[in-house]
Amino acid sequence: MNIAIDGPAGAGKSTIAKLVSAKLGYIYVDTGAMFRAVAYNCTKNGIDKDDTAAISESLSKADISIKYVGNVQRVFLNDEDVTDHLRDESVGNMASVVARIPAVRSKLLELQRKLARENDVVMDGRDIGTCVLPDAELKVYLTASSAVRAKRRYDELVAKGETPDIDVIEKDIIERDERDMNREIAPLKQADDAVLVDSSYMTIDEVAAKIISLAEEAGAGV
Ligand code: DC
Repeated sequence: MNIAIDGPAGAGKSTIAKLVSAKLGYIYVDTGAMFRAVAYNCTKNGIDKDDTAAISESLSKADISIKYVGNVQRVFLNDEDVTDHLRDESVGNMASVVARIPAVRSKLLELQRKLARENDVVMDGRDIGTCVLPDAELKVYLTASSAVRAKRRYDELVAKGETPDIDVIEKDIIERDERDMNREIAPLKQADDAVLVDSSYMTIDEVAAKIISLAEEAGAGV
């Protein structure tokens, strides 16, 4: 059984996917973290985010793999656990830039499909329902307004003791949406058979409960 959750940055996909996968006993696959690992590898090796040739070339020396500690995904780059380097806003924005490159997408596609073949998964990303797992038993398109997504991110950063500018956060979110939705390969888009969930005015628990009930309808045993 595979559950695909797609949607724009900051819609709450990973929070929800973690809750749903824990409840169902499935593995949570965070595909954004894989693109972030490619971005991190470029930064580490001084490769410019717009140098498509150098990025494509760098992939042959970048072994990206995923391991699980319980239900928690850890991302390895050439045997180094880089998970804790991937969450920064700058890495996310760069991931969105490198994600446009065909060689990057095809390398990660193989890894994503293999995980879904070998496990029951809740996989989140941008193109899971449309491209990675077109036969997923349940597809959800999780979204929220850019203002709500910016406010959530703002609150998270404030809770960490930072002093962010909410307008800058919203501007970055809108830019990232545009890049992810308008790229040539596997753009972010709701699959025809995906259920639209707008979380703007829902709590985390309400969204998780909604998706778990959709999963049960689709045949997931709880
Ligand atoms: O979900 P995230 O913020 O960790 O993703 C970071 C970037 O990676 C996102 O802006 C676009 C890219 N991405 C993608 O192109 N396809 C996916 N399935 C997941 C992420």
